[in-house]
Amino acid sequence: MHYNRFRLTLVAVAILVLSLALVGNAMASAHGQKKPDKTAILLVTFGTSIPAAQKSFARIDQAFKKAFPGVEIRWAYTAKLIRRIVAKKQGKTWLSPAEALAKLMDDGYTQVVVQSLHVIPGAEFHDVEDVVHGFRNMGQGFRPLMSWPLCATANDLKAVAKALLASQPAGRKANEAVVYMGHGTHHPGGVVYAALSYLLQLKDRKTFMGTVEGYPTLDDIVAYLKAAKIKKAYLLPFMTVAGDHATNDMAGPEPDSWKSVLKKNGITAVPMLKSIIEIPAIVDIYVQHAKACFSHFK
Ligand code: CO
Repeated sequence: MHYNRFRLTLVAVAILVLSLALVGNAMASAHGQKKPDKTAILLVTFGTSIPAAQKSFARIDQAFKKAFPGVEIRWAYTAKLIRRIVAKKQGKTWLSPAEALAKLMDDGYTQVVVQSLHVIPGAEFHDVEDVVHGFRNMGQGFRPLMSWPLCATANDLKAVAKALLASQPAGRKANEAVVYMGHGTHHPGGVVYAALSYLLQLKDRKTFMGTVEGYPTLDDIVAYLKAAKIKKAYLLPFMTVAGDHATNDMAGPEPDSWKSVLKKNGITAVPMLKSIIEIPAIVDIYVQHAKACFSHFK
């Protein structure tokens, strides 16, 4: 008799354990169900305080929306001072990369390509990369990946040189030069400008690449122009916006602007306030970098 009661109790306990396990299982599957990925691209640029130069951003925004239908496209700006000026004077809220990433995470995005709109992999690019890495272990399925800037590989440099050479100023004569003004940097990534200069020179001995804050310098450019007996040169920013550097350092009336320095050296300078974003082949390099980055999620 006792033995039978003990058996009954055992069966009851077994049923209880089994049903608890089943309920537990059902709960686990409801929680563990894989939600579909939400994809986004965060476009990160330095920013510009000059409203007219912001048209570059609109061009890039359009190109990315066209290339990535259904993918959320958002923006972040690295320059704190510019974010504040724009917010104060233009009433816009520009987020920093960290703020924009936090918002994307909060909004439930999982696959996020952070596309650097920088020209070279310099200090700003690496600062953004640090922030992105910080967000990689935040959980909630949030996986931001950093994508290369414009000039990352030798193939990028070849494509950039080709795009620049294919968009020459209209009416340029054979004895006239084209001089690009890059930003330049103390960062090791600054070697890109010299490499690009080399690639341009291979195809066109009268197209030059200089920088405002790095190598090659304006003095180098003046020496090259004189050696090539150039009397007239078109000046163009090698930057994603024709902003403050292009308006003042390149084309401004001050005695140390590139235009003034060339004039002092007997060379007529024709500044053109046209950013490289006006060249569709350049925008396409950024788009291709983002596509390559997305392929890492698969
Ligand atoms: Co600058």
